[in-house]
Amino acid sequence: MNLQNTVKQKVAKAFEMAGFENANTLVRTSDRPDISDYQSNGALALAKTAKQPPRVLAEKIAEYLRADSFFKTVSVDGPGFINMTIADTALADMAYEVLSADKCGYERADMPQKIVIDYGGPNCGKVLHVGHLRSAVIGESIKRICRYVGDEVIGDVHLGDWGKPMGQIITEVQERFPNAPYFDDNHTGDYPAEAPFTAEDLLNIYPIASGKCKTDEDFNAKAKENTRLLQEGHPGYRALWKQFIAMSVADIKELYNILGIEFELWHGESNVQERLLKMVDRLKEKGHLVLDDGAYVIPMGKSKNGNDLPPMIVVKSDGAVSYGATDLATVEERVEEFNPDHIFYVIDARQSMALEQVFIASDKIGLYPMNKLEFLGFGTINGADNKPYKTRSGGVPTLRSLIDTAVEAALKKMEAGEMGKDLTAEEKQSISKIVGVSALKFADLMNDRTTNYIFDEEKLTGTEGKTGPYILYAMVRMKSILQKMNETAQITPADKVILSNPAERSLMLRLYGLPDMVQTAYDNRMPHVICDYLFKLAQDFNTFYHDCPIKGADEATQKSRLTLTKYTLRVMSQMTELLGLQVPDKM
Ligand code: ARG
Repeated sequence: MNLQNTVKQKVAKAFEMAGFENANTLVRTSDRPDISDYQSNGALALAKTAKQPPRVLAEKIAEYLRADSFFKTVSVDGPGFINMTIADTALADMAYEVLSADKCGYERADMPQKIVIDYGGPNCGKVLHVGHLRSAVIGESIKRICRYVGDEVIGDVHLGDWGKPMGQIITEVQERFPNAPYFDDNHTGDYPAEAPFTAEDLLNIYPIASGKCKTDEDFNAKAKENTRLLQEGHPGYRALWKQFIAMSVADIKELYNILGIEFELWHGESNVQERLLKMVDRLKEKGHLVLDDGAYVIPMGKSKNGNDLPPMIVVKSDGAVSYGATDLATVEERVEEFNPDHIFYVIDARQSMALEQVFIASDKIGLYPMNKLEFLGFGTINGADNKPYKTRSGGVPTLRSLIDTAVEAALKKMEAGEMGKDLTAEEKQSISKIVGVSALKFADLMNDRTTNYIFDEEKLTGTEGKTGPYILYAMVRMKSILQKMNETAQITPADKVILSNPAERSLMLRLYGLPDMVQTAYDNRMPHVICDYLFKLAQDFNTFYHDCPIKGADEATQKSRLTLTKYTLRVMSQMTELLGLQVPDKM
């Protein structure tokens, strides 16, 4: 049960009593919260077929609603809107049943889906950069939202662990350690258990190698050749590759761990290479590939927005298989392994065309229908100049530096006494990590994912306005109120709510708004809807806290206010969980 559905049922019943069964009642939360809680625009829609003026119709229906003590007031306004305000007692009485339920009143109308979600997308051997924050954080949140509403979701990190960068790394390692057994064609037996370099060295190796490829033709040719040899199964290269992939994955896992990002699958581009070659043969055989300037392509036709799409290259003119083809083979693998209802891709919006090509190709070759493949693109993180964010020296900031920046900013605020006044020096150290990371994630998630946003280190950790710390602060306040009053977060049917102040009523209505809000976030795959809600809920709570003192109130009011605090904490905990935010006990 939830409030929205209860109102919908009551309005449908009133339409029925007025002689209109199964009418579209068009009930929604009011456009004018100053005059009503809910409105129904159904009479307007019905007027034509009913051959009655909408206001007359609306009045008839309103009469039935007025007879129900569930509503405090029911009015007919404008051309025939029905405006309804719920009685305070009705709001108070349904609190336990709705807000102590598993999902605080959320009910799913359609069937649960099975989803594979492709997010993260880090590249082995390379440092994760600012661009990797969004995919990880947004993807994780979308995964959690889908699970909340009941979907089965499998998250796949889709490692960039194949292709030319791998050959470049091998080539640079070969220059540094020419006598290592990986490069000795006469080597027999095992290869060394460990690579001759550290994880830190590895991160320097790739940029050097890729730099050399641009300036040194020989090196570039060698890197190409080494890529080919690796892909053909050269045993020494494979052994070396496995080692540096493992080092890299360990590094990536550590970062994702700090960010609270978890994957079910650690598959990569390399997982589908065998399948890919077979697929290419099959596509050639079936006549799906067209020769175009020495390359094998799949013709595309129009894109979603009506532009002509260039054909998708499957095999390049030099014989190498394309990056997009890897994605195509990955679709095949996912379909075989999981038979999902949808596959989501949480990827930089600048790659939308490449993925659209993959989706169209998948449809065309009868692999998996296009309408089940969803590109969930995101915009860039920009600097103050509104161009993609750069470090002072002009480089691309690393993900680690971004996290450090946020954590340091939080610590600085704690040391300056702007937050965490009562924390010990030790607590400041540990809690600034939680607050900094949550602030960073919230600052990213609160933006409509499709838009770019400006990274503002100062605003990020502010305790005023729409920030992570503002949300956390409200929750910490709730925890501390309960603690001071010797209360646990436990709620029982005996915990009654009494609404005696407008702030209590607004808070209650906001809490009841969760089901609709979650549905919107889910339908659009948009975590910022949850951020908006959390912000408004935190504001409502702060007004309530200010206007409705607990100490000094009579016993029943005191109990009710503590109960409201518990419900708010419960809802906020579930919603911060959907964003993947960690909440400290104090700050
Ligand atoms: N590794 C890629 C990059 O860093 C992102 C991978 C996107 N996912 C995919 N299935 N193509 O740009």
